[in-house]
Amino acid sequence: MDMMAALRLQIEWGADEALEDAPVNRMVARAAAPNAVRAVPERPLLERPAMQPLVKPWAKRVATPASSPVQRAQQLAESAATREELRAALTGFDGCALSATATNLVFADGNPVSGLMLIGEGPGAEEDRTGTPFVGAAGQLLDRMMASVGLDRTQCLITNLLPWRPPGNRNPTDSEMRICLPFVLRHIALVQPRRLVLLGAFATNAILGGKGSITRLRGRWAEAVVPGITAPIAALPMLHPAYLLRNGAAKREAWADWLALRRSIDSDV
Ligand code: URA
Repeated sequence: MDMMAALRLQIEWGADEALEDAPVNRMVARAAAPNAVRAVPERPLLERPAMQPLVKPWAKRVATPASSPVQRAQQLAESAATREELRAALTGFDGCALSATATNLVFADGNPVSGLMLIGEGPGAEEDRTGTPFVGAAGQLLDRMMASVGLDRTQCLITNLLPWRPPGNRNPTDSEMRICLPFVLRHIALVQPRRLVLLGAFATNAILGGKGSITRLRGRWAEAVVPGITAPIAALPMLHPAYLLRNGAAKREAWADWLALRRSIDSDV
C-alpha cells in the first residue's frame, strides 16, 4: 500500500496527531499492546457481555436528557420570542454540521413587517461570504424579477430554508432540512406574514410538507400550516432564480407567477 496515501487518508479523517510513541494494534487484546493501561480479558470480537447496563454509570450524573438535533432545534426555536432571539439561537446551535463549514450565518434581509416573506433554499458562496441572502447571481435576478412587478427588499423579508451554505453548493440533505426546518417555521410564526413565496422545490416541499415537483406546484396558491399561527398562510411556490439562470425559457412561467403575486397584493387595497 502507498504509505503516503494512507497517511493523507488519516489526516483527512482527522487523525492528525500522534498520541503514543508506538502504534497500537486494536485488533489484539489491549493487555498485549505495549502501552496498555488496563487489562481487558480476550473475547471474540462479536461476543457481547451478558448484562451490559443500559445506563452507563457516568451518564446518570449528566443532567441533560439525550435528544436528537431535530428535537434540540425544535426546543430552541420554540423558545425564541423575537427574531433577534431566533438569530441568537441559531448562532449558538451546533446541531447542524453545515454551521461548522459555513463562514457566516445567513439569517435574513429586508422588511419583517412588510407582510411578504420569501423563502429560498440556502446560501451560496456570495451569501456565505456576506451573511446576506440572495446577493449572488441568483439574488440579482431575484431583485430584477421583483422590480419588474414593483417590489424591492423594503417590501418583503427574504430568508432561506437553510441558514448555512452547503459546501460546494450541493443540494441540502433530508437530515439538514429536518434540522433547520423548526427555525424557519419559527421565523414565519414570529413575522406572521400575509403571504409566503417559496422559491424552488426544497423550500416548497419543506414548508408545505409534500414531495411534489416544483414545475407542477409553481404558480398555484397553497396553504402553509405553521405551528404557532392559527390560520394557514397563503403560499405561492415559484421556480428558483438559480434554475432560471440555467433555463432561460422558464422565465416565462416565472413572470406569470410574479404577476399573480402582484395581483394578489393589489387585491388587498
Ligand atoms: N439561493 C438561495 O436559495 N438562497 C440564497 O440566499 C442564494 C441563492
